[in-house]
Amino acid sequence: MAIPQSFLDELKMSCDIGQVVSSYVQLRRSGRTSKGLCPFHSEKTPSFHVYHENQSFYCFGCGAGGDVISFIMRIENLGYIEALKFLAERAGIPFPEEEREDPGLRVKPMIYEINRAAARYFHNILKSPAGEAGRRYLLGERQLSPATVTKYGLGFAPQGWDNLRAYLRGKGYSDEQMLAASVVSRGRDGKSVYDTFRNRVIFPIIDLRKNVIGFGGRVMDDSKPKYLNSPDTPVFKKSRNLFSLNFAKNKAEGTLILAEGYMDVIAMHQAGFENAVATLGTALTPEQARLMGTYCKEVVIAYDSDGPGRTATSRAVGLLDDAGVKTRVLDMKGAKDPDEFIKKFGRDRFKLLLDSARGATEYGLKAIREKYDLGDAAGKAGYLQEAAVFLAGLPSRVEREVYAGRLAEETGVLPEAVRESVNGAARRAFKRAEKKASLDLEMGRMGGRPLRPGESAGDGILGCLYYHPDWREKIVSAVDPALFPDAGQRAVFETLAEKQKTGECTMTELSGVLSLEQMNRLSGVLARVSEGYFSISPEALDDYIRRLRDEARKKEVAAAGELSGDDYRALAERIRREKQVKPPAGR
Ligand code: UTP
Ligand code: MN
Repeated sequence: MAIPQSFLDELKMSCDIGQVVSSYVQLRRSGRTSKGLCPFHSEKTPSFHVYHENQSFYCFGCGAGGDVISFIMRIENLGYIEALKFLAERAGIPFPEEEREDPGLRVKPMIYEINRAAARYFHNILKSPAGEAGRRYLLGERQLSPATVTKYGLGFAPQGWDNLRAYLRGKGYSDEQMLAASVVSRGRDGKSVYDTFRNRVIFPIIDLRKNVIGFGGRVMDDSKPKYLNSPDTPVFKKSRNLFSLNFAKNKAEGTLILAEGYMDVIAMHQAGFENAVATLGTALTPEQARLMGTYCKEVVIAYDSDGPGRTATSRAVGLLDDAGVKTRVLDMKGAKDPDEFIKKFGRDRFKLLLDSARGATEYGLKAIREKYDLGDAAGKAGYLQEAAVFLAGLPSRVEREVYAGRLAEETGVLPEAVRESVNGAARRAFKRAEKKASLDLEMGRMGGRPLRPGESAGDGILGCLYYHPDWREKIVSAVDPALFPDAGQRAVFETLAEKQKTGECTMTELSGVLSLEQMNRLSGVLARVSEGYFSISPEALDDYIRRLRDEARKKEVAAAGELSGDDYRALAERIRREKQVKPPAGR
């Protein structure tokens, strides 16, 4: 739901961060900054800072940071909307139930009406003699039951350019209105207007308020494009909605299933797994991850079992993780997607598959294991080496140790040896980071000015962009987001660049679109600027941009020599030795 800017402005005015934080933390003010003991980690000397000037907070001890909304989200453990409600109540401001003052106010209800009429039309056609081809496809080929077809309101758009348009004209709608809903499209000549969906089965997309917000349409043969989706309209934002969430939200019981396709969701639903959702023809967005997080604690990712599906899976794991949602990953064998799996093996096998879906770490280890032949020593050593690097990258020490133990058990290598190679990999990663930092310093000297502690080129650019929307053009044209070494930094950069398009944007607006992690990062930058670690000036900006480019190039060179053959050989040798001394199993 879109929160009206006027409400956010009012909320921001009445919720001073100093006052709000003071109800949880004893603050000491000096000048424009207040300090206190951080409520998010335990400490004896205050490293929790509140910056009154830009209404942000940042803890130099644990890195938590953000604005007043993210503070409440963290400390009260609330989602974004709930935090807004919490603060609104505290400040005595009524929470807006519907969008008011929105320029789309008049057009939106009209689009909802047209969409509903169109959905009804498509559905009725499907049930009529003219829908024969669609029925054959959905009920026959795709084996959907009439009940499923009715529940999802599936439909059929007949062959021809002017069916829906003529129908809607008969109901009094103009071409302009139909174009606004995108149920008709304008030809290249700029004059002709024709039905957007022709000779396709139709999947209406319904939001949480039961409005028809858009459509997906599938061909019934192998022609392209396979699916056609409504473009974004004032009521349809693909990045913010999920297919079937209207049904799934009531059946979640803590868990949602995330699939790639409409048909996967419908097939799962028909088989009794009603907590499934899918994105709307695009990759998962941070907003969708957060949206899911408000309805569940855990998501089982049920993407296609092919290469792109795997890539999309690890992306989704990252986004859901950022949104504080646990993930498990379905490990599908013998079928490309859930729809096909259920058809081939039945619902009971699918249930087993769901229940046995493991966490992302296990999924990652399994993917590595499958690359090696564990039957011989070299394969085993290779597996151990790659798995050690993977485990070394896990943020939690406890998790690292648990999996190192399992790895030892599985390969028959002594636990100490495995732990040692995981630690070794962690040490090497750390050394690489250190080397990079000293390289930065070196380059700093070369560039005339050493970087100060806590200052990095990427963060410097974020600072410049935040404080100077007027520099946006220059920054955006000079900085390719791919240059940012860190995905979180890149995401903050992209969001900020997008938001600053229409002028200065505040922390409060940003906390509606950035994850808590990303808010930490941004407020860390702002805090460091306030503490004088960062320079914000046109000269500094040029310097940051140059450094960012240099770093990216250096990294490319370094990555090539990453895995040394020596490490690999040493591990193989150790395994061979251990094989000789290890007592036979069972004694
Ligand atoms: P898939 O090609 O995996 O389709 O695309 P599917 O859901 O398994 O469909 P069936 O079983 O062949 O009918 C997954 C999703 O990607 C989007 C759609 O949302 C689809 O459900 N997609 C796919 C498009 O938007 N356009 C396309 O041309 C293809
Ligand atoms: Mn499919």
